[in-house]
Amino acid sequence: MVSLKVNGTTHTVDVDDDTPLLWAIRDNIGLTGTKFGCGVAQCGACTVFIDGQPLRSCVTPVSAVGTSEITTIEGLAGKEADAVQAAWTNRDVPQCGYCQSGQVMSAIALLKENKKPTDRDIDLAMNGNLCRCATYVRIRAAIHDAARALEI
Ligand code: FES
Ligand code: FES
Repeated sequence: MVSLKVNGTTHTVDVDDDTPLLWAIRDNIGLTGTKFGCGVAQCGACTVFIDGQPLRSCVTPVSAVGTSEITTIEGLAGKEADAVQAAWTNRDVPQCGYCQSGQVMSAIALLKENKKPTDRDIDLAMNGNLCRCATYVRIRAAIHDAARALEI
């Protein structure tokens, strides 16, 4: 049994210590917005926040999380999250949508650290999040929109 604090609620889940956090979030807790893509920390689809920092949940065992606060796409809140979600909607960023929760998590993490990212800053911050539909141009534009909205 492991206790996980996800989106402000503590869940006790019956999994082995080495179970990837992604599976506990999806299969045991039932939050399916976080996606499985590669399983080897190469695509970013499984990105969640641990104490506010983005992390690949597919390669993080539940035993490594301890009492940290886990935030998934379903639990997002705050001005950066609002700005990113609005920009994503206005720019119609998703195509199939599969990668997008991970993209949104990484975009929010970037804007918390860098209020005015350049194209290069965005490309560097987002290059661990792959999109098979190649929505990269819209992602970049939406991040600039969100940064502008946060300036106001
Ligand atoms: S599923 Fe975790 S990085 Fe691809
Ligand atoms: S929107 Fe389809 S994989 Fe990114």
